[in-house]
Amino acid sequence: MEQYVIKGGVPLVGEVEIAGAKNAALPILSAAIMSDETVTLENLPDVNDINVLIEAVEKIGARVQRVDRHTVKINGSTISKCAVDYGSIKKIRASYYLLGALLGKYQSAEVPLPGGCDIGSRPIDQHLKGFSAIGAEVRISHGNIIASCSHMHGAHIFLDIVSVGATINIMMAASRAEGRTIIENAAKEPHVVDAANFLNSMGADIKGAGTDVIRINGVRKFHGCTYSIVPDMIEAGTYMLAAAATRGDVIVKNVIPKHLEAITAKLNELGCEIEEGDDSVRVVAAKRLQRTHVKTLPYPGFPTDMQPQIGALLTLSQGTSIVTESIFENRFRYVDELSRMGANIKVEGNTAIIDGIEQLTGARVSSPDLRAGAALVIAGLAAEGITVVDDIVYIQRGYEDFDGKLRGLGAEIQKVDSELEIRKFELSVG
Ligand code: EPZ
Repeated sequence: MEQYVIKGGVPLVGEVEIAGAKNAALPILSAAIMSDETVTLENLPDVNDINVLIEAVEKIGARVQRVDRHTVKINGSTISKCAVDYGSIKKIRASYYLLGALLGKYQSAEVPLPGGCDIGSRPIDQHLKGFSAIGAEVRISHGNIIASCSHMHGAHIFLDIVSVGATINIMMAASRAEGRTIIENAAKEPHVVDAANFLNSMGADIKGAGTDVIRINGVRKFHGCTYSIVPDMIEAGTYMLAAAATRGDVIVKNVIPKHLEAITAKLNELGCEIEEGDDSVRVVAAKRLQRTHVKTLPYPGFPTDMQPQIGALLTLSQGTSIVTESIFENRFRYVDELSRMGANIKVEGNTAIIDGIEQLTGARVSSPDLRAGAALVIAGLAAEGITVVDDIVYIQRGYEDFDGKLRGLGAEIQKVDSELEIRKFELSVG
């Protein structure tokens, strides 16, 4: 199994280009099959989850042409079945976006019920509530969600919980229903807005994305288009916090600063200097950081996908910080790994109490999930000595060329897959 080996203590300095957003690209790749004309998607991140979903789209019969590492052409006119295979959904939960896409286009869809995952049980009851409201008959049979509908019609849907996935999935299906659908209590994340903009570029009629009320007038057909994925705010935030943890000076480029405001505000509170450009943000952290309180909330609140990363950063702050996770029930699995590096953290329910220390020490740790893995890399970059991060396959699901981009900022990090290579790295860095 591949690992990262890191020699910590090197301040990150320089510029890093941010890729397209994984959590926008996943629904947009699914929605692209809703047109029978060719859709060209640009600025796709080259990460495992995207490549798995592209395979799932090919498996149901869509024609896919890889133009280059970040560009793909998709044509949904050749789709031969509306059933997604179990292998696809097992590898990536977000295959459930094919439910909304296939239901919207063919009024029929069969997708395996996604299991839970590392950060908690991930029900999709709100997705199914929305599909039923627009007229679909939805049932669970042998582990599959089977949705079919003779006449899809508009509805007034009030989500019981703010859900990114449910908002996007219902928006996709309703974009082809007859009449007007209103989604209340909708998620407002930039990737929700990007999915709505993409659907509109295929001819949908969606207004209000980015607010908590989205209005959709169904249309009969979609045409082809060319669309570029929005920059990944979580990838950007991860590098911003890595800069802060290593007392570095980093400019994240190809970002939308507005999307990063909750992260920027926290870094300011901690004592970092922040400079915002049109499509860049610079983070300078010359001295030891202050403490703070963080509570994860739906956008525009502090993102849950940045919670492990700021948890790692706060282990080095002066004083006691508190991190409250309000979205998922099991997103502190990185804490035990950080404790092995000397961190002083106590988890009580959905809150972590972090007593900052001067210095972490390198250790062998294991990535429990995608964002926790990124947090352990941040800790390793700041720690004294050598850190080996196992199970980096989780990290590769959501970060393109993570070690390469970090080396570009001066980090001493290598991707290895043997003890011999770890030894060689240790000898090379002295
Ligand atoms: C998306 O997951 C992201 N994944 C997650 O990012 C992110 O953490 C999450 O949104 C919140 O921002 C993708 O976009 C592929 P939700 P999603 O529906 O849509 C509950 C990462 O690291 N809920 O907004 O599944 C749910 O249990 C990943 O990139 C229901 O109860 O999240 C959670 O407590 C991790 N019923 C809350 O809502 C439902 O039908 C928010 O979940 C749906 C959700």
